[in-house]
Order: sequence, then C-alpha cells, then structure tokens
Amino acid sequence: IVEHTFSVSTLSLPRVCQPGNVTVTAVNGRVPGPEIEAREGDTLVVHVINDSPYNVTVHWHGVFQRGTPWADGPAMVTQCPIRAGHRYTYRFAVAGQEGTLWWHAHSSFMRSTVHGALVIRPRRGAGAGDGYPFRTPDEEKTVLLGEWWNGDTVVLENQAFSTGKTMRNADAYTINGMPGDLYGCPEMTNIRIAKFEVSRDKTYLLRIINAALNTAFFFKVAGHTFTVVAADASYTEPYETDVVVIAPGQTVDALMAADASPGCYYMAISSYQSANPSPPFNGNTSTAVVEYIDAAAATSDPSRSPVFPTLPEPNDTFTAHQFYTSLTALVRPSRLTVPLAVDTRMFVTVGLGFSFCQPTQTQCTSNQTVVATMNNVSFTFPTTVSMLEAQYRNTPDGVYTRDFPDQPPVVFDYTNTSLPQALSSTGSPSTKVKTLRYNATVEMVLQNTALVGRESHPMHLHGFNFFVLAQGFGNYDDGDAAGEEKLNLVNPQERNTIAVPTGGWAVIRFVADNPGMWAMHCHIDAHLRIGLGMVFEVESGPTPETALPPPPPDFPQC
Ligand code: C2O
Repeated sequence: IVEHTFSVSTLSLPRVCQPGNVTVTAVNGRVPGPEIEAREGDTLVVHVINDSPYNVTVHWHGVFQRGTPWADGPAMVTQCPIRAGHRYTYRFAVAGQEGTLWWHAHSSFMRSTVHGALVIRPRRGAGAGDGYPFRTPDEEKTVLLGEWWNGDTVVLENQAFSTGKTMRNADAYTINGMPGDLYGCPEMTNIRIAKFEVSRDKTYLLRIINAALNTAFFFKVAGHTFTVVAADASYTEPYETDVVVIAPGQTVDALMAADASPGCYYMAISSYQSANPSPPFNGNTSTAVVEYIDAAAATSDPSRSPVFPTLPEPNDTFTAHQFYTSLTALVRPSRLTVPLAVDTRMFVTVGLGFSFCQPTQTQCTSNQTVVATMNNVSFTFPTTVSMLEAQYRNTPDGVYTRDFPDQPPVVFDYTNTSLPQALSSTGSPSTKVKTLRYNATVEMVLQNTALVGRESHPMHLHGFNFFVLAQGFGNYDDGDAAGEEKLNLVNPQERNTIAVPTGGWAVIRFVADNPGMWAMHCHIDAHLRIGLGMVFEVESGPTPETALPPPPPDFPQC
C-alpha cells in the first residue's frame, strides 16, 4: 500500500516577468505537486484534504481503475467535487500497467498548478535488473512540462468564459514548474530554471509528462538523442529520435545517454500547432539546463554558455506525424493483443464549430460563438449529481441521456473550411452518453474537422488504454478498399491520449471491460470547457465481480 496525504491549499509564488507574487492552488505547498512512486500491483491510498476556497477533485490520468470507478476523479462524471473544508480518500490499485502516468485536478482550470507525476515501476522481482524491458537506466528523472499564468487560473477561467471569451494564453511555459531563462525580462532577478545534473556515460530515463492546459510541445536536449521506450505507460519498440512530440495529457519515457562532451546543454520546449503559440513574454520557449558534473570541472570552459537545440517550427506537422506514427508497441508475451471482432463502430468528428444560439438565450441572434463538439454535440457537465451516481442508482433522468450519436449528422469534406453551418453544434450543450455493453469492443474513427483553426486535438479516454490502429491526414474514407489494410492489428501502440492529427483522423479500438462512467475528451482544457467531450456508460457485467460497485462511505455529495 502506498499512502499519501494531499493537502490542497493556496500558495503564493513569484510572477514571471512581473513584480510581486500571485496566489495559486497547490498540493502540499508545491508546484508541481508531490510525485507518487509505486510498483505494479500496489494499492494507492490518497487522502485529499481540501483546505482551498475552491471545489476540487483529483484524477489519476491513465490509471485503469478496474473495479474502482468512484476513484477516477472527473468532477460531475464520477463524483461531486470535494468542497472547501471537506476531504475524500481515493483508493485504487495500479495493476496491469507500468511506466509514467500523472495526477491532476479535474475541476476547472485548477490543474494548471494542481498536478504531479505518478510513476509505476515493475513489481519487485519482476525480472533482471529493475524488471524493465530495456537496459536499466543509471538514474531516472521526471520532466513535467506545464503552463504558467500570472494569475489564479480558476478566477481567470471564470472571468473569461462568463463573458463568452476564451482563456488568455499562458504567460510562460514551464519545465518542472520553472520558466527558464528565455522569458525576456532583464530586470527579472529571480530567474527560476530547472537543472538536471548528469554524469558522463551514464544513462538516464526521462519521464516526460505534458501537464500543460492548452499546448502541445516539441521537446529537445541540445547535443543529445533519445531512445523512446514507453508512451502513456505502455512500452514501445525502442525508437531513436532527437525530438519528442508530446500533446497535453501524454507521457513519454525516453532513455538519454550522457555521451556528449562535458558541459552545459539546454533542454527546451516549444509549442506545436497551437492556436495561441506565443505567450506574451518573448516567445514560446521554456528552458532547463542539463549539466555534466564531475568530469565537467576538468574539461569544460565555465565561460561557455549552454548549447541551444534547434527546435521545429510551431507548425511542423511533418515532424509531429513522423514521431507519432513511428511508435509501435513492444510485443511481449504478457501483452494484450488487438481484438479483431468489433461490436460497436463509431465515426466521431472532433473539432470546433459555431453555435448560432447561446444556451441561455431564449431568442437566437446572429451572434456566433465558438463551441467545441463531438459529432456536433457540445458536452456540458451535469450540476446536481454525478453521472456515475445516476448510473448506479439508475436515475439518469435530468442528469444524462443515452443518445450520443454513432455518426455525425452530415458527412462531407471535413477538411473544407468553407462549410461552417454543417458542422455547428446541433443544439444546446447537453450531457449525452454512449452506452456500451460490458466487454464490448469499440472502434472509433476520430475525424478532426478543420472548421475553426487547425489544431491537433489530444483526445483522452478515461479508464482504458486503446490501440492506435492508424492515423492520417484528410478525410478518413471508410469505403476505401485499403481501409482495413491501413490498420495495424499486429503491434499498434497503446495509449490513453491520441493527438488526432491536424486536418486528419485516427482509428482507435478498446474493450469496455470496466463498468462505470468513462469520460473521453480533448485534453486541451479550453476545448473541454466549450464542449469537446463525451462519456461512455459501460454497463455491469453478468457476475457480482463485474457489477458496478457501490460508492465508498465518504463519497462527496454535491
Ligand atoms: Cu487527464 Cu479527463 O483527464
């Protein structure tokens, strides 16, 4: 049993490039919050004590939560929030998965500062060395990528969306909570930059997590290359690259050999395909430093400034696609194989569109607002009771409906930007689920629409990993004879978050073998907030062990 207490409270931290401090919400007084280390098969017990003025929930991003749907965490999907002054204990096992995951607040934009790593190592005695299916690293280092606002993100979010606007851009990107030294404010005296000390000829396992709210990143370390060995806590065939591409919600485990000439090297991140690429303070690059210790003193010239890597352009879709499509699963005897028979097929458009009528308006005007939709349905969270409680008590009326469509209402050229009406929201924001029989195999084609802005949408599924069978650009053409042949049914990577390509599509498949309410949504919070999500309701199985369990006794009430 791995036990933690998370005390959620306010914390004062220095602004970036501006004088003074800002008040944010944090766990145990730190941003990022505490790292949880566990071994496969462990049970985690995390007591969350909410001493902040806001509602909070914590989501264990990527954890399967088999038999523990009440511990998943998304506010109003699996639980009511933990109110100010209240507490809730999350209990769940981390079984059948190894690698890097993370935890984050799942209520409002609070996750900008309420997040941390969740590392699952192989069981003790799981094999030679540490039980990794790759060369045991000399050391491991967590690299948490984030976004920083000089403000309270809960307040900023509410101000922005209550006036029908969208959240302003982050003020800086961060590596392990620090912006680095490229945010151009020479008067800034308290430069905070993360430092990674390495020794020559040692190998490091970098556990890279993109905890940013709204931005996908390119990640590089000058003078060094990586061997990717896992993504989203699923082992991959070793993949050599000098750049890592990572969308919000995703993780990448990469080995990095300290084999450069001793000295200092920049680690740097820059935005990929963001609608808002540049934070206001001089560019879009956050830095950290990789510094060679010991040998360095003898051979390096201390006056030499660190070497900077060449980062791809913000719209370098080629590099992103190359990275994403080069990852395949490491085939091991214990690994799940792709289910070949599909029970439920869905074709789901994901993207932004226009709403011609505000949900609060009784009379529609011609004012267009941007909404985000899946199959033209814009999702809204219920407000009185969580969806999982409604499922458990069989009282969905007034909470959700079971009519999430399997197809978009219109089929046409999704990459054509001149047809706005056809992909607008077909109604007011609503809470629709797709109900799945226990153990159903689901195949989803996710089609990105290029209606408003060209962005990649990182679609995250709660409760399950899915196999990524194919991805490409343009319209997915199911009628194409090559369709099935395009699918990798042999060694597709498993993920919990797929970056649906800009102006493209992805095909995923998963087995719904865990009863409960499992959200699927864009991990860009600005898009989730305007409706880019839906929920799968997985029915109970035939036996007592496969039935939806009752809520724990301390379950929060709305
Ligand atoms: Cu990491 Cu529903 O999110």
